[in-house]
Amino acid sequence: MLFKNCYFLILGILFTLCSCDKNNKTDEIRIGFSQAMTKDDWRRSMNDAMLLQASLNPNIDLIIKDANYEVARQIKQIEDLIADSLDVLIVSPIQSKPITPVVQKALNSGIPVLVVDRKTENQEYTAYLGADNIEIGRNAAKEIIASNTKDSIKIIEIKGLAGSSPAEERSQGFRQIIQMFGKAKIVQSVEGDWEKESIQEKLRKLLQQNGEVDYIFAHNDRMAIGAWEVARELGLENDIDFIGVDGLAGANGGIQAVKDGILKATILYPTGGDEVINLALRIFNKESVAKNNILSTTIINKVNADIMFNQFAKINEQQTEIEEQLEAIRYQKELYYSQNNLLKVTMALLAIILSLAIYSVYSIFAIRKRNRQLQLTNKKITVQRNQIEKIAKEIKLSNEAKLNFFTGLSHEFKTPITLILSSIESLSDFAMERSSKLMNELELIYNNSNRLLRLINQLLDFRKVEDRKFTLHVSKTNVFIFSKNIFKDFEREAKKRNIRFKLYSNNEQLELFIDRNLMDKVYFNLLSNAFKFTPDNGKIEIQIDDDANKNTVSIHFRDSGIGIPENEMDSVFQAFFKGSNNRKNSSGIGLHLSKEFVGMHKGAIEIKSFHGAEFIITLYKGKAHFDETEIITDQDLVDTQIIDFSSEHLVDDDYLLQAPQKGNEKYSILIIEDNRDLLRFLQNKLTLEYDIHLSDGTDPIEKAFNVIPDVIICDIALPDKNGFEICEILKRDLRTSHIPTIILTAMSDKESYLKGLDSGADLYLTKPFSYSILIQSIKSLLYNREKLRFYYSSNIHKIEHVDTFGNIEQRFINKLNGLIKDNLGNSEFSVETLAENLNISRVQLYRKVKAIMGISISDYIGNIRLEKAKSMLENTSLTISEIGYTCGFSSPNYFSTTFKNNYGMSPLSYRKST
Ligand code: FRU
Repeated sequence: MLFKNCYFLILGILFTLCSCDKNNKTDEIRIGFSQAMTKDDWRRSMNDAMLLQASLNPNIDLIIKDANYEVARQIKQIEDLIADSLDVLIVSPIQSKPITPVVQKALNSGIPVLVVDRKTENQEYTAYLGADNIEIGRNAAKEIIASNTKDSIKIIEIKGLAGSSPAEERSQGFRQIIQMFGKAKIVQSVEGDWEKESIQEKLRKLLQQNGEVDYIFAHNDRMAIGAWEVARELGLENDIDFIGVDGLAGANGGIQAVKDGILKATILYPTGGDEVINLALRIFNKESVAKNNILSTTIINKVNADIMFNQFAKINEQQTEIEEQLEAIRYQKELYYSQNNLLKVTMALLAIILSLAIYSVYSIFAIRKRNRQLQLTNKKITVQRNQIEKIAKEIKLSNEAKLNFFTGLSHEFKTPITLILSSIESLSDFAMERSSKLMNELELIYNNSNRLLRLINQLLDFRKVEDRKFTLHVSKTNVFIFSKNIFKDFEREAKKRNIRFKLYSNNEQLELFIDRNLMDKVYFNLLSNAFKFTPDNGKIEIQIDDDANKNTVSIHFRDSGIGIPENEMDSVFQAFFKGSNNRKNSSGIGLHLSKEFVGMHKGAIEIKSFHGAEFIITLYKGKAHFDETEIITDQDLVDTQIIDFSSEHLVDDDYLLQAPQKGNEKYSILIIEDNRDLLRFLQNKLTLEYDIHLSDGTDPIEKAFNVIPDVIICDIALPDKNGFEICEILKRDLRTSHIPTIILTAMSDKESYLKGLDSGADLYLTKPFSYSILIQSIKSLLYNREKLRFYYSSNIHKIEHVDTFGNIEQRFINKLNGLIKDNLGNSEFSVETLAENLNISRVQLYRKVKAIMGISISDYIGNIRLEKAKSMLENTSLTISEIGYTCGFSSPNYFSTTFKNNYGMSPLSYRKST
């Protein structure tokens, strides 16, 4: 608001400044004056008087045009003045007649015309100002007659320009009086044009012809003086008296001429310069003025010439003074205006500065106030933010704590449940033979434990889904067989409750890419729900519907249960949903997880409810909708993680292997696990078939180096180094790098799995693991190593470049072979020297070679010597003893005996046979 006021104030000041003009142009009076010429002093004096008078009135703008005695020029100039929208026009016509029409024109265009000195022909003008020229003529005549006592007076009249009113009228007045007196006579007249040059020649001639002349009357002083000059030339200047008109003061004027005795007299002809301006003002002001404004005239002769001269000199002096005064006033005025303007500008600037200062002060206060408010708000916000942050932190911490507790607890559940289930598994084998009642009890425990396990898994899955930690591992799967396997799990319950339970498919060969683990959970969930809500004697069916025309397959799960109320259908898949008609206990996350899992397959799950419920899963065929990283081709790498205790399964399993043989010795297993129960359980279970070594996780590396076991089973979460680190260390060390390692853990995410493989682990089993799968995995690993050993022991001579083992093994065998070959002829070369060269102990070398090749290191060296000897027998002609020594046998006898033991014939016989 204040700023707005300042803005208007500044505008006002600027406006005032703009109006700081020294003249108020609106009151200006424009007066145009057409002057006949300005060659002579009389005209100049007239102009000066007009300018002086006009300068007394600051509103008057006087424009003087000089016609330079050219008629046409004067007409043109008057026309220009008319066009210039004048207030008053003043004209002093050169001649009366030619100027009359243009004066008329000015009148017609509404401009008042003031005629001065000379008149127009028709005398049509607003007013005339000038002396009475007839009277002037008369006065001249009277002067001649009054001052002359002669009986006869001869006069020459010198006239002004013909056609100009003063010339006509002066002559007229002069002649009027002359004629009245008989003694005076105008003997000659000379036509002039107001200037002496126009008459001198003519006069000279006249005087020369007729010298007797008493008087010469010229219409103005200039011509009169000119006449005197001619007379003087002729020596007649004292015989003739000269009379002129104008009576101008000044050195060249008529009064001076009278004083000098050149002129007898002069008739005063005032210019009327000052009066004409006054008259013009009166006309402008619409005051009534007389048409003819006559200026008074007088005779100036010897008698009054001095007085007149002095008076005019005085007047001139005063006029000069006035002019000086005016100039001083003008200067003062200029000064006043400029100072006034300067003052106004200063005032304006002061006002602006003051306004700005006030505004600045106001702004400072306003800003300070605003700042204070902002600081206050800021403080409040900071306090609030801190509070929110604190609360958020607390919530986060408590949430984290709860979740960690919950997750930890769930993980904790796994191990005991695994134990329970595994125990039941072994008990069931035993009980099957003894009592069906015990079997029933066990089945009850087994089923409920399984249920408990599934619930825990659901809870963990829920957390994983929330954290977006699930990654798909889809593999090509026959959907019918997959469904059938799960279907089987529910068949017994269906039978027991007399539920008609069916599985249909219109394409039993149909293969889909699914994550079997996740889809298994979806099936299990939908079927558990169906069985939960379907009464005895009801109906449950799974229908796989492959529409050959579509890129999708739909799997329907129908039941004749209680169904879902119409208005709750939309909420069914929300977490923690529980139908209003559901009286049973329910976690409310099963369907939510199912939807998430199906969604991860880019599929859809929907529900219909009419006399029961129907869930429809729609899945895409092919694998284009999956990311490359989500597709698994080697299904064996993925542990199924499902504990399957049905004896049927174990017996039917095709890949079930017999425990591999290691001669009379048992294979050794090092178990690294900090859970004592699990440790004991595994020990009990495996001790019959294997030589078991245990580590609680505090000394796993030392144990491994000491024992050099055949298999290592290692947990991940251990007190000192974690399982990945242990595995990595062992796999990098030459002494243990060959040992197959199984990682056993509760961490089932993809990252941990990959980390496990990265660390060099050969197998990654997640808890709860199936004991049978564990035992089969151990056997499978040992079996594979056995196959390799067999290969090596039967191809020792060919072991040049080994590429079946890892890099470490390859380097080890290459180095080993190199050392043996280099010392082939050295019978002193011992296992100790070899171990020393390989930087390991003798026992470690023994165990390593035994583990890789299946034979002792000394046998391995012996075999290489024998193989070499064999090839030398075949390819050289060296003697038997030479060959024996060359191949490192201490004596030919020892060589022969060893060769015979190994190949069934003596070296000599062998050479002969080849
Ligand atoms: C000046 C003049 C005067 C004379 C007047 C007549 O130009 O010649 O001497 O009195 O004009 O108009």
